Amino acid sequence: MIPIIILFVLVLIVLLLPLETLHRNAGDGTDNNKAVPAPLPCELQLVETLPIGLSYTQNSPKFMGTYEAWKLLLDKAKLTVDIAAPYWTLRGIDVNDSSTQPGDHIFHRLLANGDGGKPKLRIRIAMNKSQESILHADAKILANYDAAEVVAVKLPNAGVLNAKLWIVDGQHFYLGSANMDWRSLTQVKELGVLAQNCPHLAHDVGKIFNAYWELGSNGDGTIPSQWHWTFDTRYRLGRPMLLNVNKNYTMQAYISSTPVALTTTGRTHDLDAILNVIESAAEFINIAVMDYFPLIINGPNVQFWPPIDNALRRAAVDRGVAIKMLVSWWPNSHPSEDNFLRSLQEFSQVMQHVDIQIRRFIVPVNDELEQIPLIRFSHNSFMVSDKIAYIGASNWTGEFFMHSAGIGLVLADTTLIESTIRTDLFKLFMRDWYSPYSLALKRNLQI
Ligand SMILES: *[C@@H]1O[C@H](CO)[C@@H](O)[C@H](O)[C@H]1NC(C)=O
Ligand SMILES: *[C@@H]1O[C@H](CO)[C@@H](O)[C@H](O)[C@H]1NC(C)=O
Ligand SMILES: *[C@@H]1O[C@H](CO)[C@@H](O)[C@H](O)[C@H]1NC(C)=O
Ligand SMILES: *[C@@H]1O[C@H](CO)[C@@H](O)[C@H](O)[C@H]1NC(C)=O
Repeated sequence: MIPIIILFVLVLIVLLLPLETLHRNAGDGTDNNKAVPAPLPCELQLVETLPIGLSYTQNSPKFMGTYEAWKLLLDKAKLTVDIAAPYWTLRGIDVNDSSTQPGDHIFHRLLANGDGGKPKLRIRIAMNKSQESILHADAKILANYDAAEVVAVKLPNAGVLNAKLWIVDGQHFYLGSANMDWRSLTQVKELGVLAQNCPHLAHDVGKIFNAYWELGSNGDGTIPSQWHWTFDTRYRLGRPMLLNVNKNYTMQAYISSTPVALTTTGRTHDLDAILNVIESAAEFINIAVMDYFPLIINGPNVQFWPPIDNALRRAAVDRGVAIKMLVSWWPNSHPSEDNFLRSLQEFSQVMQHVDIQIRRFIVPVNDELEQIPLIRFSHNSFMVSDKIAYIGASNWTGEFFMHSAGIGLVLADTTLIESTIRTDLFKLFMRDWYSPYSLALKRNLQI
C-alpha cells in the first residue's frame, strides 16, 4: 500500500511541475513564486468640478461632476460612510448665492442620517484639528444631531490632514482634491476619481482612513511608533494590485500616502510614487497643480526642497522627456512662484532637445460673485505620463510631503489600448492646456 502512495505522489509531482513553471514564467518578475493573480474588479472614472462660467469647446471631453459623484455615493450607501477632509464648510451660511446649493444639499443629506436619533448609516468623519470654529461648525452640527461620529486629527510639525476621501460600504470611494466645501462643488476647479464596486482597492484606502480615525480617537494624538499589522498593505510600487477596470482592461494600481509617520508597513510614500512616475516616463509628463515650489515654504524657516524639481530637470535633460506644467494662478498666488517656474522652463532656452513648457491656469472672476472675493481658482492636483496616471490632492511644495497627511492614487496602463482612465486624464489635461484659461508665464500676470 505505502509504495503505491509514494508512487502516486511522485507521479503527481511530475505532472504538476510543468504547470508551476508555466505560471512562474507568466509572472511579472516581481514575485516569482506566486501565480499571476486574476485582476480584481473595479469601476473607475474621473470626476471634476468645473467652476461656474468656465466653458470649453463643444467637442472637448466631459466628465462626471464632483457633486453628482457624491450624491451617487450617498445613494449607494447602505451601512457605512467614512469621510476624511481638512475642514467642513458645506453650508453657504453667510453667502447669498445659488451656487451654495449643492454644498447645502450634501450637508442636509448627511444631517438627515440623524433623524429620530437612530442613525441608519454609520458615518465617520476625520478632520484636521483646528481652533477656528468656522472650519468645523458643519461637522460639529452633524455630531450634535447624531448624524455622524467626528474626530479631529492633530499632526506634528503643523501638518494638516489634507486628504479628501469618501469610502462607502467598503466598496466605493472618492479620492481627489475636492474639499467638504460648497465652493469645491461650484466655484473651485477640482479633480478626483470615483471608484464603484471596487472592494479590494477600497479596503486598502480604508486602512489609511482607519489610521486617521485611530489618531483622532486616541486622545493625546500621538502617532504610534509601530502601527498594528492590520494597517499594513500588500500593494505598493513594484507590487501593485491588478485591477480589471470597467470590466474591460487591466491596470496596475496602488495607494500612496504621507507623511512618513503615517505610511505604514508595505505602503509607498507619496513622494516616492511621484518620483517614480517622473523617472519612468519615456516620452512626456503633464502636471497640473495649484502650487509648485522647490521649497518648504510655510513655517518659521523656508527650506530648499528639490526632490521633485531635480527629477523633472533630469527627465527633461537626460532623457528628453517633454514636460508640460499647468500651475494655478489667482490673486493670492505667491508673487515669487513665477520665478521658480521660469527657472525650470529656462532649460528649454539653452538646450535644443529640452522641452519644458509651463503655463498658469486662471479661473476668471465671476462678476456676480465679486462681493464674495477670492473663491475662484484651480485646486486640482494630478500628473499623467506616457504610462501612468497619478491623482492626489497636494500642492507640490515640501511641507505637503514632509508634514501633511495626504493620499495619492497611482494607475498604470499594462497594455497599449486606446482608451483607459490614463488617456482620459491626458485628454482632460490637454483640454485645459489649450483652453483660454491657460496663459504663458509672464511678469506681472493680470487678468
Ligand atoms: C438674497 O438674494 C435674493 C435675490 O438676489 C434677494 O431677494 C434676498 O433678499 C437676498 N437675501 C439676503 C438675506 O440678502
Ligand atoms: C490644521 O490643524 C492645525 C493644528 O492641528 C492648525 O494649525 C491648522 O491651521 C489647521 N489647518 C486647517 C486647514 O484647518
Ligand atoms: C496650497 O494649497 C492650499 C489649499 O489646498 C492653499 O490654501 C495654499 O495657499 C496653497 N499654497 C501654498 C504655497 O501653500
Ligand atoms: C472597451 O474598451 C474599448 C477601447 O479600449 C472600447 O472600444 C470598448 O467599447 C470598451 N468596451 C466596453 C464594454 O466598455
